Amino acid sequence: MAQAPHKPSPKKLHIKTFGCQMNAYDSERMAEALQPAGYSLTDDAEDADLVILNTCHIREKAAEKVYSELGRVRLAKARRHHEGRDTLVAVAGCVAQAEGREIIARAPVVDIVVGPQSYHRLADLVAEAARGGKDLVETEFPAKDKFAHLPERPKGKVQASAFVTVQEGCDKFCTFCVVPYTRGAEFSRAPSEIVAEVERLALRGAHEITLLGQNVNAYHGMDEDGLNWSLAKLLRRLAEIPEIDRLRYTTSHPRDMDDGLIALFAEEAKLMPYLHLPFQAGSDRILAAMNRKHTIAEYEELIGKVRQARPDIALSTDIIVGFPGETDADFEETLALAARTRFAQAFSFKYSARPGTPAAKLDNQVPEAAKRERLAALQSLLDQARHAFDRATIGRRLDVLFEGKGRKPGQVAGRSPYLQAVHVEGPQELIGEIAEVDILAAGPNSLTGVIKSEFAWREPVQAAV
Ligand code: 5AD
Ligand code: SF4
Repeated sequence: MAQAPHKPSPKKLHIKTFGCQMNAYDSERMAEALQPAGYSLTDDAEDADLVILNTCHIREKAAEKVYSELGRVRLAKARRHHEGRDTLVAVAGCVAQAEGREIIARAPVVDIVVGPQSYHRLADLVAEAARGGKDLVETEFPAKDKFAHLPERPKGKVQASAFVTVQEGCDKFCTFCVVPYTRGAEFSRAPSEIVAEVERLALRGAHEITLLGQNVNAYHGMDEDGLNWSLAKLLRRLAEIPEIDRLRYTTSHPRDMDDGLIALFAEEAKLMPYLHLPFQAGSDRILAAMNRKHTIAEYEELIGKVRQARPDIALSTDIIVGFPGETDADFEETLALAARTRFAQAFSFKYSARPGTPAAKLDNQVPEAAKRERLAALQSLLDQARHAFDRATIGRRLDVLFEGKGRKPGQVAGRSPYLQAVHVEGPQELIGEIAEVDILAAGPNSLTGVIKSEFAWREPVQAAV
């Protein structure tokens, strides 16, 4: 007699994601990898048989969040235990990679520690922990691509805007940064694998793809014929997929911003006019101490070229204030560069000394109060520039990709080509679609507008009786 296939008992999984978009992507892939073992996602940590914290180590504040979250998880686990239910706890991501076994020593509630390069081992580790296995720590950097070991993304509708990791790791070794240690050496996925993943997402409703990588423009995937693909070549190939209307990529390094990639802003209509290009600091002296390997003049020359290719481009950046040895004069140069460049978006941070990085050992650390003051001054300037960029879109008609409900009932929300959040009154049917919107106003964090009047979203057609 044929045996019925073994069906795993249904279990609940809660994943809390910290940090960057790459972690968000990894969290999705972890959920998919655990599906065959019977795990389905829940938003409620108390309801979960397995809790995964996908962590970020980039700044001290981010890393410490893990331990406060683990405190909450410990209480939830105790309550569930009282009710006769077990809870497994896993720490994934960059804190897992950086701290390894120490996490279990500091927070014994943790059953599994798994680094970002080992997610293909997750299902086995969970099974082992469920059998009572202890002290399960996996932080190896396997020789082979982790993605090749993960299952194909399952069927079902996806978000209209999806992320795909194409490159991981970094060989740049900026002196403040943990990424080369937590994510390892630069690695590019094969173009065929990426194209297949994007085609699958396109068939399931994705209209926009953001290619992710810590150094995404250093992408150099090798195809079956041994040819190296640049990011520009990969973007061109992905633009051929009919369902994909929009392409983006992040994060880029100025050193890898070559002319072919810049030209694409003029040549490829599907490439959205948005570029995230961190400059980190405005003085050449600090840039050298950061080991950024570019000068301010080089950065500004790049910006000039990018603006020539796409004059309306929305530029975004990352900036650190209070790197060791940064003087008031150095900081003034950061302010001046930010003012000259007129960023549409910017992320700015106080320098945070990270264990194991060269800058953490420098003895000319900047006092906290100075960092705080500099950050406030910088952020006020950056906010003004962002508002100015937003206000300049008032009166324009922009394509908006709608991704979800708006803040108010009857509203839907989406993103403009410049990645601005846009809210309009409109039917839910717009979610997942692109429609033209006349921009009417710019609020502190988003734009509002109206769907172009002649846009005919179809009333449901009455079936003829
Ligand atoms: N301190 C403060 N900010 C940092 N970043 C990276 N490392 C640190 C650090 N030690 C910032 C950089 C980077 C962004 C992702 O985080 O600006 O581009
Ligand atoms: Fe970190 Fe620098 Fe690499 Fe960016 S380029 S990930 S800041 S080391």
